[in-house]
Parts: sequence; C-alpha cells; structure tokens
Amino acid sequence: MPQSKLSGQAYHQATKHSYLSVQMNPNYVDGSTQPRAFKVYPKFYRRVKLNCNNPTHAFIRLTSAITFEKFYKGETYQLRVNPSAGALYPTEVYVQIRGVEGFLDGIYHLEVENDCLTLIYELIDDGLENYVIPNKRINGFIFLVSCVYYRSSWKYQDRSIRYCLLDSGHHLGAIAASAYLHEKNIQLIFDFDKLSLNADLGFENKEFISSCMISGEAQEKPVRRLRLPIPFVCGTDYFQANQFLEDAYQATSLQPSHQQQLEHPQFNFDRERFSENVWNRRSIRRFLKKSISQEIYWQILQDVQQPIPTKNIEEIEIYSVVHRVEGMLPGLYNGRKLIKAGDFTEKSGYLCINQALARDGAVTLFFVSDYLSYQTAMQIAGLIGQRVYLFSHYWGIDCSGIGAFYDDEAQEFLGTNKDVLYVMTIGK
Ligand SMILES: Cc1cc2nc3c(=O)[nH]c(=O)nc-3n(C[C@H](O)[C@H](O)[C@H](O)COP(=O)(O)O)c2cc1C
Repeated sequence: MPQSKLSGQAYHQATKHSYLSVQMNPNYVDGSTQPRAFKVYPKFYRRVKLNCNNPTHAFIRLTSAITFEKFYKGETYQLRVNPSAGALYPTEVYVQIRGVEGFLDGIYHLEVENDCLTLIYELIDDGLENYVIPNKRINGFIFLVSCVYYRSSWKYQDRSIRYCLLDSGHHLGAIAASAYLHEKNIQLIFDFDKLSLNADLGFENKEFISSCMISGEAQEKPVRRLRLPIPFVCGTDYFQANQFLEDAYQATSLQPSHQQQLEHPQFNFDRERFSENVWNRRSIRRFLKKSISQEIYWQILQDVQQPIPTKNIEEIEIYSVVHRVEGMLPGLYNGRKLIKAGDFTEKSGYLCINQALARDGAVTLFFVSDYLSYQTAMQIAGLIGQRVYLFSHYWGIDCSGIGAFYDDEAQEFLGTNKDVLYVMTIGK
C-alpha cells in the first residue's frame, strides 16, 4: 500500500467515534468562549460592496450569503447558504478576479459578515494560476476555499479535521449552485501546491486552503507566483493550536487523487425555483416519520450522482437505509440493489449516536470510499452532501448532514471495509 494511502486512512481512523469514546469525551464546550466565525481584513484595504442588481456581484455573494438569523440562549446565530457542522463555519472564500468588467484584477477575500469583497492583492504578471493550474491564465474567477480550523477544533477537537473538509466540500457545492444559477462554467481542482499557497497567502498555521474552483476562460500563458507576501490576518479573535489537525492536514495535502476525464453535469432544474431553494435551504431538526415518494427519491439519487466537473476525483459509494419510501421494501440498499431487508430505523438512530433524525427520516444515506486522497474524498463527500440538501429541498423533502456516527459499527452494519466518510438523512 502506498505511504500516502496509509496516512489518509490512519488520520480517519484516529478520529473514529465509538460508544465508549463518546461517553468518555462528550464534547461539551462553554458557548461563550466560541471563537469568531467571520474573518475581516483591516479597514485600510479597499472594499467593493456587493450589489445584488449586478450579476457578477450576485454570483459571488450567493456562494456564501447569510440567509437566516436565529436566536438561541441569548445569542444570535447567522446561518448561511452552506451548512456547517455545529454551525461553526470554519470555511472562508477568496476569489481571484481577472479581466472582469468593473473589477481591478486582484485577489479578494469574501467578507461574509458585511457582504463585500476586500481587495487583498493586486495582480500584475502574477496570480493564483501558478499554484493551481500552471502555464494557464484564467480570465474570470478562481475561487479558493480555506479553513480557519480553530473555529471547528474549539468544539470538535481532533475530529474537526473531518468537519473542516466536509464543510469545505459543502462550500464548494454552494459555489457550484451559484455558478449554475448564474450560468457560469466551473472546474474543481483538488490536486495542487496547497502548502506553498498557504505560505504565500500569509496563513501561518491558522488557516489552510482545501480546494479551488475555476470559472472562466483559460489562455495558454504562464503567470508568475505572487510577487509579494500577503500579511497574516487571524480569522478568529483568539487561537489554540491543535497539532493533530495541523499534522493531518500537512500529511494529506500531498496525496494525489484518482484522475478522470473532465465531465460536466446536466441539470434540468427550474432556475427560479432552484434559486428560492438555495436561499431557503435549512437543516431539518425533527422529522414527522412520513413517507416520501419513490419517484422523487430516485430522481434525487440520480441527480446527486451526476458527474462532478473535476479531473481529480475520489469515488463515493452511497448505501441507503430505506425506512419510509412508498412502494419500497424497508432495508439496506446499495443503489437499487437490496442487500438486507428489515426495519433498521432504530439501528440507524443508534449508529448516528442516538440522533432521532437518522431514525425518523425516510432514508439515511451512508457515504463510503476507498480513496487515495483523503482531502479530496472528504470534500467530494461534502459536495455531494450539498447536492443532497439542495435537490431534496427542491422536491419539498427535508434533509440534514450527520457527521457524528459510530464508525466501526456503521462499517460493520453496511458490510464494507471502506471508510464511512459522512451520513445524511432525508425525509418529511
Ligand atoms: C459536515 C456536517 C455535519 C453535520 N452533522 C450534524 C449532526 O451530526 N447532527 C445534526 O443534528 N446536524 C448536523 N449538521 C447540520 C448542522 O448543524 C447545520 O448545518 C448548522 O446548524 C447550520 O444550519 P443550517 O444547515 O440550517 O444552515 C451537520 C452539518 C454538516 C455540514
């Protein structure tokens, strides 16, 4: 087995939950010590306020917008287009804009709290292409998704390596949804020199790049590395290092993914309805144990499994535990194949650390993979997860991501030795 494969799986293994581990370490935190979830560059940087009447502004804004405010135990929580484990939002978005009318060519940070783009770097003959797609020059947009990991490790400790990557995948899915609505082509890139880029973006050990998405026209023309360093700005108001997480990120950054031909998905959603859906997406908190239609269930699964526009891929296999789908025998399925029939509602709830969501939904989906690149696999799982949210909602079906589950027992129940990366539940 190649060394790189060993290390990805070893890090996943090291963050497994079991009945005992959850009893011994229940992750209780004092909410008043939560680190800040919004990064803001100093005020001397030039800013562009995003105006929804401008299509380019609307495209960028919808990748990360705040869509709901919630009051809970005296605190206000601002929920966003992208879901996030524990609503901790470790991800940030940067976008390089080149040759787009109304914008200076530069690298911008998307300041979600204030709906603006902060120009952190002006381009001359240099740019992000050098790191992500060498020998090309992109006229258009290069999005980078990063993680300010302490926002998540504050609560989830070592297991937050999973949530940082799954959340990054969800955020990529949110960018892809905005691109779909604004009729932009996209390509995702997972295999690139992330470590050099972190250094040149001034992230120190506190933030790391997870992935990249390109939208625009590629020209055959080399671009230089960034000619100047970018100053470090902390994405939280205070910080505590987590050595495990930093090591896990470093060790899994250099693992090359499986490769495939670039292929684009073909979706047929009504764009107006899909747009409302993106603005209104939420995680369900409680299901009413109602059935869903079989036709819609298959439609969702089919669309979710459409091609992902990237050359760097890890295959995600989906096991479905069907609880309540009209006309279907309850049981464990792999695609359309019934593996074992039975009522596994209680079992699903138990496996997801006794979360009623997994018991009361119509279907609980388990994402498993035998991957080369851990970072790519987790992010693809998150991206598919974002599709599950959006496509279920589109058909009036509720959904939630589930990152907390007993790993070994889930694997045993599914009868697989592939790693279980993520669980989702859909229903009414
Ligand atoms: C990777 C991931 C894991 C999650 N795990 C759980 C979970 O185990 N249990 C749960 O109730 N919600 C879970 N959620 C849902 C989040 O709590 C939810 O996204 C967050 O509170 C924000 O709310 P929203 O999705 O309605 O915007 C998860 C979400 C993500 C993206």
